[in-house]
Amino acid sequence: MWFALIAVIVIGYLLYKLLLPSDTKNFWAQYGIRQIDGSPAASEKELLSGKKDVTARDGYAYEQLSDNEKFCGMIESPYKMIFIKDLELAKRIFIRDFGYFTNRRQFFVIPNKDSIVNKLLNVLKGQEWKNVRSTISPAFTTGKIRRYMESFNSIGKDWIEVLKEKANDSSTKKSVIIKVLPTVSQFTTDVIATGVFGFNAGTVRNPNSTFATMVTRLATMNQWKIALSMRFPSLFKLLGIEIIDMEAFTFFQNIVAQGLKARMSGDTTKRNDFLQMMVELKKGELKSDGKEELSSFEKDAEMKAEKSSFVLTDDIINAQSVTFFFAGFSTTSNFLAFVFYCLAAHQDVQDKLREEVRKIVQKDGTFEYDAIGKLVYMDMVCCGMRLALVESKAAIAHVLHNFRIEPAPTTKIPVEGVSGSLQILPPDDLELKFTIL
Ligand code: HEM
Repeated sequence: MWFALIAVIVIGYLLYKLLLPSDTKNFWAQYGIRQIDGSPAASEKELLSGKKDVTARDGYAYEQLSDNEKFCGMIESPYKMIFIKDLELAKRIFIRDFGYFTNRRQFFVIPNKDSIVNKLLNVLKGQEWKNVRSTISPAFTTGKIRRYMESFNSIGKDWIEVLKEKANDSSTKKSVIIKVLPTVSQFTTDVIATGVFGFNAGTVRNPNSTFATMVTRLATMNQWKIALSMRFPSLFKLLGIEIIDMEAFTFFQNIVAQGLKARMSGDTTKRNDFLQMMVELKKGELKSDGKEELSSFEKDAEMKAEKSSFVLTDDIINAQSVTFFFAGFSTTSNFLAFVFYCLAAHQDVQDKLREEVRKIVQKDGTFEYDAIGKLVYMDMVCCGMRLALVESKAAIAHVLHNFRIEPAPTTKIPVEGVSGSLQILPPDDLELKFTIL
């Protein structure tokens, strides 16, 4: 393994120097598009050593563009990309015109062409992506997201209970200093496990379970391996070097496969999770929401599958279920960690938001889907879309109703984001003080 990696680095570096494409220096000029070179923010050396990742270049391009410039061209060896700055344009691409933008930014190479990893929604391309995307979209309408609210509430309450136990066990019997990222990750792990598999992972009570460890392993990718794989895809394919932790991937694949088998045979009671919706879709039993029930967002985002011969296979269902751990775990955790940090640093905003949240809290400490969707100030604090937005709002509402959050003695203000895993991350050791109200 180490020999293979060293071979990749040495051979790759030589090839890269020899074969460095010369036509990319101003590739976008032929289309009248300004090209920005992101290397001042993250050099090739910094990318290849894993010191920085492509998000540093994204941030740099964002700063270089003037207020009137909506996008620019960039080269991410070997891909030619368009970087969108304008939010309205991004929204249009992501919602109404999604069907035309079938190929996502590729972040890493998958060495085995037969691997089920190739079926992940964020990896699929062209017509195949369209087919899968339009097939699973009915599982993400407002009506279906509403189904998840029950688990956001039950997991949220359990999570708060555990945090209160920790605060009560402290010397003050009221406050506890917590590491934010691992704590919010416990909530998001349990939410995804319930939402996808209907599986009670119990991470908020048992953060060191095998399940929780596997989620973290799946979501953590080695930055310099990713960078190398993008520069030298053929070598990675030739040597079969995996970027994803395949042991963790197989762990989830097996859970989904067992769940799918049991549900297809009708052995289990019906549940409100993604797997159930996929089973209903496969059997042709998933009731789609009536046109009148779809929000204007959903009508805009609707995309028709163009090939009626498309078959939803077990492999495709399996891959999409595992995708949620890739796409929905660390994204939401990082977002929540930053939100709690900002609320700790801005007590006036926290107070105002708590006041709003407390107007809609139910007697049993839960929140209703419709009420949480109508919070005006929350929408200013918490941006996002669809499932992730509702999940994040629920987490924030549960915490603010029960705790005051403040900077801990170790909290650096301003916080410094950490580059890695293709997102800007809050530092692992970011601590905040939670005090029971
Ligand atoms: C705050 C949290 C989140 C953020 C900021 C976020 C952001 C994004 C972005 C920017 C993309 C587009 C990537 C690209 O075009 O290359 C994406 C795709 C995706 N996300 Fe999220 N996401 C979040 C949470 C979630 C959650 C909770 C789930 C599911 C449980 C999810 C599932 C997906 C999937 C399946 C895709 C691929 C869609 C496709 O290719 O058609 N995300 N996300």
